[in-house]
Amino acid sequence: MCGIIGVVGSTDTLATLLQGLQRLEYRGYDSAGVALVRAGHTWRARTAEGTESVAALRRECADAPEGYRSGIGHTRWATHGAPEAENAHPHLDCSGHVAIIHNGIIENHTELREELRERGHVFTSVTDTEVVAHLVEELRASGFDLLDAVRHALARVRGAFAIAVMDATEPDVIVAARRISPLVVGTSPGVTYVASDVPAILGRSTAFYAVNDDEIVRLGPEGFRAVDLEGAPVRLRQLQIDWDLETAEKGGFDDFMSKEIAEQPAAVRATLLDRRHRDGAIVFDELRISDQELLDVQRVVLVACGTSLHAAHVAKYAIERWSRLSVEVDIASEYRYRDPIVEIGTLVIGVSQSGETIDTIQAIREAQRRGARVVAISNIVDSSLAREADAVIYTRAGLEVSVASTKAFVAQVAALELLALRLAQLRKTLTPEEIERYVAGLNEVPDHVATVLDRRDDVDAVARQLLDARDYFFIGRHVGYPTALEGALKLKEITYLHAEGYAAGELKHGPLALIEPGVIVVAVTTDPLMHEKILSNVAEVKARGATVIAVATDEDGRIDAVADFVLRVPASDPMFSPMIDIVPLQLLAYSLARGLGRNVDRPRNLAKTVTVE
Ligand code: F6R
Repeated sequence: MCGIIGVVGSTDTLATLLQGLQRLEYRGYDSAGVALVRAGHTWRARTAEGTESVAALRRECADAPEGYRSGIGHTRWATHGAPEAENAHPHLDCSGHVAIIHNGIIENHTELREELRERGHVFTSVTDTEVVAHLVEELRASGFDLLDAVRHALARVRGAFAIAVMDATEPDVIVAARRISPLVVGTSPGVTYVASDVPAILGRSTAFYAVNDDEIVRLGPEGFRAVDLEGAPVRLRQLQIDWDLETAEKGGFDDFMSKEIAEQPAAVRATLLDRRHRDGAIVFDELRISDQELLDVQRVVLVACGTSLHAAHVAKYAIERWSRLSVEVDIASEYRYRDPIVEIGTLVIGVSQSGETIDTIQAIREAQRRGARVVAISNIVDSSLAREADAVIYTRAGLEVSVASTKAFVAQVAALELLALRLAQLRKTLTPEEIERYVAGLNEVPDHVATVLDRRDDVDAVARQLLDARDYFFIGRHVGYPTALEGALKLKEITYLHAEGYAAGELKHGPLALIEPGVIVVAVTTDPLMHEKILSNVAEVKARGATVIAVATDEDGRIDAVADFVLRVPASDPMFSPMIDIVPLQLLAYSLARGLGRNVDRPRNLAKTVTVE
């Protein structure tokens, strides 16, 4: 949720921190801060100006003193304590020498705070984080070096954290540690970095290393060494990072969201690339699970959040239809608390763009604890989810910066449908000819998506006429239903308008009462088998005064007579249609949000990666 960055041994410490923070803004952005540390001195600046916090911090730092070779920086998404400057990180101990940044939640902070207060510590924020600064302060005072002080402090702490700690009495050292929240270390000659995620130090660091849970790293200009909670040395695994800086930039688009919407054909293409063996078998090179294990699967459970959950809903239809396995989809944050049943042969699939969403990680941990085999679908190589699962399939959508997920969704559906076809291939529930036909159909999706992208002017024209609308219902049937859910999510998160997604058949069981003139109903009508039924639903809402936007195929000759606006898409097998039909809905949300003056990349109250429960 929060973003962290640290550097030791740099000749442009402040510039490194500020650039890193700018790239981390999408993780959380209600406040920001830096601390520069040298022998005996800590200089700190913090701002709390919402999405402008990093820009404000840059101004604040204009007068920063020079000569600091090391420092830490943080973008905060408030959990404990209001988004105000005194709660912004870095936090200091009583002496002002120890500075700490933190992503995560210290669950036992209240009892630790009381205990520390009783011993005379003075707190200057209401955050959970500050307790760690004071714990380290005490341990330093009793003679531990910074590494051991942090190690012993963490033994007292419950919860999730990625932290970086400095002490002006032991300058040019950062001690960083991780439990649950992500953390990477980077190196270049004479300079060492730590960050919550790679983009923050991309282009500066030449080698990247993953920190695992309960590992503590001491960084100095000459490099780093890592230990576990007992102090025993551990080796950090080097990561293969093949992004260049350009992938993190907007590439000529106004914002990341429009860039990422435009990248969808490439995202699907890359995800499908190189997945066939010469003998026709569908293969996933990175999948560390044998064919026999896949054949042993009796039941599939998909767990995910938000947009990834909607991709999982699409996968349910595909896996059930093609492989005849029973599939359940669960909201990750619900799964682990409902005493889930894991029988022999249960395959759990955790779907997450970031691979760092804590709800999804905790759900797969619960599944593993109960004996399930777990496959991760992740967009980030070596993400926590990917590392913890028994097997992984990577979507290859590339870095997604915009908070609203777009290209990750289509890539997830593509990867999950390929997996569904692999299961069907192994179980022989589809003939080789049918597999061939479906794989060919999947491979046509990128071109269909590109066709829809070429029609963005049609969507803009509709959006311009709807800028006064305030209520939207998205409806669909079969896989049109998860498409409707995802269309509604996109609209609400970036326009802040009321939007709900419904299975069209459910409308008359309650929501129809809300339909009246002024309400917009967006109907996904592309499935030929469901066409009659969805047209009836459209008629029901039209009769009650709604304005209807239909997503319809190029071949649909009946839709113009019933809908007020029609957004055309190329026809495909219905199973592939979510990847195509979602595109006009993303564009509609985008166009309305821009028309309403919203910040599409950084919608209020949201963070790109949700690393707290
Ligand atoms: C919506 C959105 C979120 C994420 C959700 C899961 O546009 O971005 O709903 O889909 O937070 O994130 P990941 O896929 O990283 O687990």
